[in-house]
Amino acid sequence: MKNELFKKIKRYETIDSTNLEAKRLLKNNVFDSNFVILAKTQTKGMGRRHNRWYSPPGGLWCSLVLKEQIFQSNITLFTGIILHKALRNLLPNSPLKIKWPNDILWKNKKLAGILTETSHSSTIIGVGLNLNQTELDSEIAEIATSVRIETGKIVDKDKFLNTFLDQFTGQFNHYKEDNLQDFLQYYRENSYLTGKLCTIETGRESVQGVVQGVDSGGALVIKVDDEKRKIISADRIEIHKV
Ligand code: BTN
Repeated sequence: MKNELFKKIKRYETIDSTNLEAKRLLKNNVFDSNFVILAKTQTKGMGRRHNRWYSPPGGLWCSLVLKEQIFQSNITLFTGIILHKALRNLLPNSPLKIKWPNDILWKNKKLAGILTETSHSSTIIGVGLNLNQTELDSEIAEIATSVRIETGKIVDKDKFLNTFLDQFTGQFNHYKEDNLQDFLQYYRENSYLTGKLCTIETGRESVQGVVQGVDSGGALVIKVDDEKRKIISADRIEIHKV
């Protein structure tokens, strides 16, 4: 069955970045509705904060483009929750966590990241998921992992992408109508940061405290001294061992 929200999937063997390609296609107004860009490899994969995103064959590198729609930044958290659910269905009982605002972790290692951008009045949600790589670049091998490395399983990428897109589509109207309300319980049950002592750099300031969770809009809540503070976006999150 075709996906109702994303009617077109454009596939590439290799591309600089699926997010960059999405921007070019939006600029040239190539599609008149939502679309997905999928590449086997990226030569200039981009992470948040201008970090490089290693994108060899084996991973799932894609961008979901919601045409002429702009959302709150918590669309990233929504996408992370859906991605976590899709992975959990595939790998029941696995130690998968959602790390606010955009990571999926396997124990303490990064399995997936999400880079949301706006361009031409549209939303581009770039999803990078380490799936079938047997090893990762030495620069990230200590801090990241893949499904294959952790489980030995080879995942059918197309099948997984379809499942993920179907789940995204199935919950999307709900997210649009109620914002994150019905997803927060799931987030709370699977949150990596909750209860951890962290230093968070927001660009304007650096705050240290214990993470309490997220508020109804998806902002991170941290207890600093005796005061609860809300963080909408963070440049860096350092977790302290206690
Ligand atoms: C992060 O955790 O820093 C976000 C990583 C996002 C990577 C994906 S891979 C597909 C899409 N294209 C890109 O260039 N980046 C995103």
